[in-house]
Amino acid sequence: MQKLIIKGKRNLSGNIKISGSKNATLPILAASILNNQKIEISNTPLVKDVITMVELLKYIGSNIKINYKRKKIVINNKKKKFRTLAPYKLLKTMRAGVIVLGPLLSKFKKAKVSLPGGCAIGTRPVNLHLLALKKLGANIKIKNGYILAKAKNGLRGAKIKFPSISVGATENAIIAASYADGVSYISNCATEPEIQDLINFLKKMNVNINWVGKRKIKIEGTKKLKSANYKIMFDRIETGTFIIAGALIGTKIVISGIETKVLKKELQVLKKMGVKLEIKSKEIKILKSRKIKPISITTAPYPGFPTDLQAQIMVLMTKANGISTIKENIFENRFMHVPELIRMGAKINILDNVAKITGSSNLNGAEVMATDLRASVSLVLAGLVAKNKTTVNRVYHLDRGYEFLEKKLKNCKAAISRLH
Ligand code: EPZ
Repeated sequence: MQKLIIKGKRNLSGNIKISGSKNATLPILAASILNNQKIEISNTPLVKDVITMVELLKYIGSNIKINYKRKKIVINNKKKKFRTLAPYKLLKTMRAGVIVLGPLLSKFKKAKVSLPGGCAIGTRPVNLHLLALKKLGANIKIKNGYILAKAKNGLRGAKIKFPSISVGATENAIIAASYADGVSYISNCATEPEIQDLINFLKKMNVNINWVGKRKIKIEGTKKLKSANYKIMFDRIETGTFIIAGALIGTKIVISGIETKVLKKELQVLKKMGVKLEIKSKEIKILKSRKIKPISITTAPYPGFPTDLQAQIMVLMTKANGISTIKENIFENRFMHVPELIRMGAKINILDNVAKITGSSNLNGAEVMATDLRASVSLVLAGLVAKNKTTVNRVYHLDRGYEFLEKKLKNCKAAISRLH
């Protein structure tokens, strides 16, 4: 098991170039199943989850290659025989693999996809995914831990209204409807920027897909897809993570390769907390922030405050001079980082889905355990600002979603190394 060793209290300064978005790459890779023409995807983050998705597509039969040097993925499915099976062994570590269900079913009229199962942050149900596919004409059974989906005449355009907002279910529905016969209207969609990236990619493949309401999409399904080259958007959660690192212990950090217009809520919260930011459209400078003010936030679907930054901003709240609160409204168990932060000296109480953080506390280095992707990066942030040494165990969680984390932090003078 690899671990990260961090010697705290090193002021950070330097430049960070943000990688491509994991959560945009995964649905775009899934959507490539629809197309027999050549597809080239660039700016892909070569993180574990993306590698797992590539393995899954290879298993299904996709002719897919990663060019590590140029950080590109090339797919050429001409005359490829597909297996419409996504096995448990590949989905158990990467639940997002369930978004191959829509494209497999829409393209090949059947699919057998493992139920993804839960994870540290929640049970991760897929009922909304299945609701959408049934509306499009799928016949779905659950058997032995698998979703067995059939549509002998292919999927047909339909009106779908999600009872609650789900990123993955929106993505499955959009991809399936893109290859269905006829027009679909999908309401109460998630509107995360990563979904916009998927829509932009589908448009490039010649799908007629547009927003026709705040959370409503119209899709005219087509079988005539075109070859497409697509550059993945930047990772906004990685961006938020490094801004918080700068707010915690930075003197001057410049973050580039971003579009600040999709970070409105995060930047508004950080400014309210007193973080010194110079914001341009494609770059952010974080300067030494002396007094951090407490704040109360609630996680919500985009454009609300992202649940994927909840663990990270909690570390900043330990430095605020007062009491902050976080209401976690998206996942039922997303406070796994709290016991570890408390072991480092943070003062945090949890009541139901609300965490109360009493600052300001001086954190002390400790041996801690990562439990999920964003919890693990919050422990790294805590290690950067804590006195003495912090050892973060089970860093495989981190490697799922952060590309070259240590290198980027080392380039900003952090004392961080990996023990193999
Ligand atoms: C995506 O997960 C992201 N993953 C998550 O990021 C992110 O935290 C989440 O969206 C919310 O923004 C990827 O994009 C690969 P949801 P997803 O469906 O699609 C419930 C990370 O750290 N729900 O929007 O699984 C669900 O239980 C990961 O990069 C149902 O009830 O999230 C949750 O409470 C972690 N039924 C809520 O909806 C369903 O069928 C939101 O989940 C689906 C979801």
